[in-house]
Amino acid sequence: MPSYTEYLKVDELLALQCPLSEGPEHDEMLFIVIHQVYELWFKEILHELDHLNELLSRDEGDRARHTLKRILTILKVMVAQLDILETMTPLEFLSFRDRLEAGSGFQSFQFRELEFALGWKDAKALARYPAGGEARRRLERRLRSASLWDFFLRHLASSGVPVPRADLERDVTRRVEPSPELREALVAVYRSQPSLAELCERLVDLDEGLIEWRYRHVKMVQRTIGTRRGTGGSAGAGYLLATLNQPLFPDLWAIRTEL
Ligand code: HEM
Repeated sequence: MPSYTEYLKVDELLALQCPLSEGPEHDEMLFIVIHQVYELWFKEILHELDHLNELLSRDEGDRARHTLKRILTILKVMVAQLDILETMTPLEFLSFRDRLEAGSGFQSFQFRELEFALGWKDAKALARYPAGGEARRRLERRLRSASLWDFFLRHLASSGVPVPRADLERDVTRRVEPSPELREALVAVYRSQPSLAELCERLVDLDEGLIEWRYRHVKMVQRTIGTRRGTGGSAGAGYLLATLNQPLFPDLWAIRTEL
């Protein structure tokens, strides 16, 4: 039996925090640890999302809702973790920020994978990763693959919901577009199929949860660097604010006024 330290590769894990600042600056350790923790959560959510898609394709609705609940719980923890980073003042961050050079969460390929897996596809994002590299390969695969929304629609269709053919056969490399005909079918689901309606509500939780993360992240950015440009090369808070209020699943929001 491997020991705890061997099984979890604790020695290797603890050797992975390498500050770049002189000294090093005290707060750089927190900055590194929190980003690494996020990357692990991204990995776990992607793992759960792949499982969720499998469950939906086998029409195992109860187990799919269970897995979705786990994903939502992780997302809540991810949002709450931003509180820890907000204990770092602007001056503490500036003490090592210039050592990050062009490094930014903007380059997190797992975050882009997560967006793609949820249906927030953007082929232009691929250009930020070198052709032939592992990150690019993973993103290309996610771009071409059906998203959670597509697996959800197929599950609705095989449960007898009249999902329009155009939605079932949509181009999965593109972002989910609003579909008035699909909305009619979703309204009927809410009125007469409680367990499918509950699944829809959990997807709305997921959509809202990602927006919550984006909102908390941009507020943290504003309080830490104000309106400075991002190290990743974007306009900073201005760019991040533009990503708010763009839902993953527009029809699930639109039907609220029609119910
Ligand atoms: C002091 C802390 C932080 C600051 C000042 C900060 C700042 C920024 C800025 C300015 C951007 C816009 C892109 C650019 O760099 O030009 C950005 C994007 C991003 N950051 Fe952070 N960030 C911080 C912490 C984090 C943490 C802890 C994570 C967790 C992984 C994270 C993940 C991301 C992601 C995924 C994006 C891309 C968002 C998108 O394109 O919609 N950031 N960040």
